[in-house]
Amino acid sequence: MVKINVGGCGSFVKDSDYKSYVAKALDAFDTLKAGNGAGNDFLGWKTLPVDTPEKLLDDIDSVKADWKSKGVDLVVVIGIGGSYLGARCAIEALSHSFIRPEGSPQVIFAGNNLSEDYIAEALDLAKTRNTAVVVISKSGTTTEPAIAFRIFKEYIGKTYGATEASQRIVAVTDASKGAVTTLSDNMGYRTFVVPDNVGGRYSVLTPVGLLPIALAGFDIRAMLRGAADEMKELQARSAENPAVQYAAMRNLLYDNGKAVEILVSYNPKLVYFAEWWKQLYGESEGKEGKGIFPASVANTADLHSMGQFIQEGSRVMFETVLNVEKAAREVCVGPDPDNLDCLNYLAGSRVEHCNAMARLGVKVAHIDGGVPQMEVDIEKIDEYNLGAAFYFFEFACGVSAYTLGINPFNQPGVEAYKKNMFALLRKPGYEAQTEEILKRI
Ligand code: PA5
Repeated sequence: MVKINVGGCGSFVKDSDYKSYVAKALDAFDTLKAGNGAGNDFLGWKTLPVDTPEKLLDDIDSVKADWKSKGVDLVVVIGIGGSYLGARCAIEALSHSFIRPEGSPQVIFAGNNLSEDYIAEALDLAKTRNTAVVVISKSGTTTEPAIAFRIFKEYIGKTYGATEASQRIVAVTDASKGAVTTLSDNMGYRTFVVPDNVGGRYSVLTPVGLLPIALAGFDIRAMLRGAADEMKELQARSAENPAVQYAAMRNLLYDNGKAVEILVSYNPKLVYFAEWWKQLYGESEGKEGKGIFPASVANTADLHSMGQFIQEGSRVMFETVLNVEKAAREVCVGPDPDNLDCLNYLAGSRVEHCNAMARLGVKVAHIDGGVPQMEVDIEKIDEYNLGAAFYFFEFACGVSAYTLGINPFNQPGVEAYKKNMFALLRKPGYEAQTEEILKRI
């Protein structure tokens, strides 16, 4: 289960202040549990680990089996934001860094940007492979995935024919509205539903995340079990509840001038976990002129790029280290009779020991440099522990945002750029704005 250590913040805050922030976080916890806070029509994620019907998982299995029988070896998953990052996070974390497992298709992502080069290169790959597509959009109206889907739909139709295309495209979308729903009905695609009461960034444990993760060959039942066990852990109304501690400490640090939180990992498999976390916290809390800016580093690589700033730059940040207790593999530094690299003092040591010593050395250095540090520990990187970590950070986000006095479940600011982009793209209905914006650029 997820563990937290807030001890590395102790020298930056008064114990009495921490206790009062724990009290505030407990009030926020009550609000989240009772479901009577702002945005409470988006609380479906809270019970997904125990509510997800076996039938849904069986339906996911049947897409997997069907595509396996067709020899599909590439799945293009189209989506953006909350309809993308959870699946990518899990697949990157669980996959071998270099070798694709036998028996499962490669999963790549599209529709998460508007780069023409990117989409052209994704098509290059598709043309060499036996390809299927998953399109994910809750609203069914988001421009980036809509453009990518139009291009891949055409490619799949031309390559495999209309009847086969309807078997090679699966949609994850709203139950009744949006262009993807209409298209799916017309074209006969298999569909999975994004529940109305689950927002994008809280949707990794719906088919939005589960379908791509399963297609990549990973055990979604174990992921849901991990989330369910974590859900149980977080039910206690207690100052020891790790979600309450995390919410209390980050809000206290924020009110003491620490407006940037850096999620730190020491395993490159977790780079996309940080991307998922940044969206979750950034989009949930960054409103009304408030909120902690979520950033990330991947150490030890980033110690050689961002380390200087974190050690000695503007003192605005604190760190949350996402620590993995056990490496899955064992690699030792060997002895060398010549010792020209002067590393014999490490002969026999595991590389992970060096990683741990780097992490602890950084902890002390950064605390000395004025950067408070929390640690969030998971036992290892597997489906079960990732499920627990997803649930932990989602729940803690709800508690934290309510502690800050913010609705964690809306994202009003995301619309601003879209209106300008539509006006510039001359979307029908935006004619007046087009003239206005052209004067300003
Ligand atoms: O968290 C969110 O709500 C957003 O990131 C959305 O998931 C993202 O904008 C994609 O939206 P949609 O799934 O409607 O295409």
